[in-house]
Amino acid sequence: MTNAHPDLSICGIGRSAVVFKIKEEKRVVKVYFPPFKHLAKNEQINYMKVEGDSRYPKLYEVGRNYIVLDFIEGKTFFQCLQEGVPILPEHVKQVDDALHSARERGLNPSDIHLHNLIITKHGDVCIIDIARFSQSKQCEQWNDLKSGYYKHYHKAYFPSKLPKWLMNVVAALYRTRKGTSIHT
Ligand SMILES: Nc1ncnc2c1ncn2[C@@H]1O[C@H](COP(=O)(O)OP(=O)(O)OP(=O)(O)O)[C@@H](O)[C@H]1O
Ligand SMILES: [Mg+2]
Repeated sequence: MTNAHPDLSICGIGRSAVVFKIKEEKRVVKVYFPPFKHLAKNEQINYMKVEGDSRYPKLYEVGRNYIVLDFIEGKTFFQCLQEGVPILPEHVKQVDDALHSARERGLNPSDIHLHNLIITKHGDVCIIDIARFSQSKQCEQWNDLKSGYYKHYHKAYFPSKLPKWLMNVVAALYRTRKGTSIHT
């Protein structure tokens, strides 16, 4: 990624795309890796269904292999755990509420993991990456994360900061155990 346009800076890299912040604009462009370019259309359709809900970024444009979205300023749940920023029960409830609304609009929320949940600078939750919200398979990931949160997060033994490598190991073990595929 050495020859990106000077008006773009990398804001995040996922399993299916690179997300660039557009200089001097509060927007990002999510460019899908070639095997995942079909997700641009999926994600567009899903964003149209949650249009007007401030707990999801607004979609501005879609192309063959990219979409343009609001830049959400804040920290992902993953960064919060890594940096010791508190994740409050209100945040968990906000995720629940946002997923409930998405279900009411005909979606099937999937792939809810720590990198896809952002606590904004105003302290509200925003859910990004909803390309897989239209798959038919039931996804238990958010329920599992939530159980872990209620069971361990507020306990004295829970570290104030979690190392990145440890969270990545736990995530990899979880995916192996659940047989989660990224090729959706
Ligand atoms: N709208 C946004 N505003 C701010 N940061 C974003 C935004 N969209 C994505 N990011 C950052 O980029 C990362 C990768 O984006 P995204 O989750 O959309 O990619 P992906 O390849 O679909 O991810 P996954 O690995 O979950 O499939 C996110 O974890 C987040 O850190
Ligand atoms: Mg993601």
